[in-house]
Amino acid sequence: MPKKRVGILISGRGSNMQALVKAMATTGFPAEPVVVVSNRSEAEGLAWAKERGLPTVAIDHRAYANRMAFEARLHQALLDHHVELICNAGFMRMLTGGFVERWKDRQLNIHPSLLPSFPGLDTHRRVLEQGVLITGCTVHFIRTEMDSGPIVAQAAVAVMPGDTEHSLAARVLSAEHKLYPLALRLVASGQVRVENETAIFAGNLHEPMPMLVPAVNSRA
Ligand code: GAR
Repeated sequence: MPKKRVGILISGRGSNMQALVKAMATTGFPAEPVVVVSNRSEAEGLAWAKERGLPTVAIDHRAYANRMAFEARLHQALLDHHVELICNAGFMRMLTGGFVERWKDRQLNIHPSLLPSFPGLDTHRRVLEQGVLITGCTVHFIRTEMDSGPIVAQAAVAVMPGDTEHSLAARVLSAEHKLYPLALRLVASGQVRVENETAIFAGNLHEPMPMLVPAVNSRA
């Protein structure tokens, strides 16, 4: 089966993009990265992708009159590279219904909480404020409402006593780096379908869905 052509959208550091690119370089992975697009030309992740020889495109959203004009350019960049599946990896722009609809069930996002809990920004601060004991991360297909859509995979991460936003973010991030490649593998291999706004996994899982609680910072 030909590999799915993946476009990765970023806005900053791009550590999830790196995890995806590294996973896609492994033997037998059913997807390949064909372009990395950032809405910020100075994004660290863009430099990493360039060094790695991946095609990159910077599309500064501030240069466009409105969201639709920005998204028309973004859509064209993805078509230019024959993208079949988009992975948002720390892409911090809201997308309008038009764009979301065009890429329906072909665009994934990762969010650092167990959705539908804690969508939006400042996730870890709010998790700590609420005294939540288990948080995590979610990979989902994108819908128009922020951080919503059929859930493809989740990983649970424990909140530890004494956690700060920083320590919690680091622990969740290391789970994200495992979860996103797993979710991409399932989707790119055609084993996930969406029915009644629920993602259904139709294949055989060679590894169980992880409940990841890495011991990062737990001895601090
Ligand atoms: C990640 O934690 C990702 O889950 C989050 O931004 C970070 C990007 O880090 N995304 C969202 O909050 C989307 N709502 P990265 O650039 O190192 O991958």
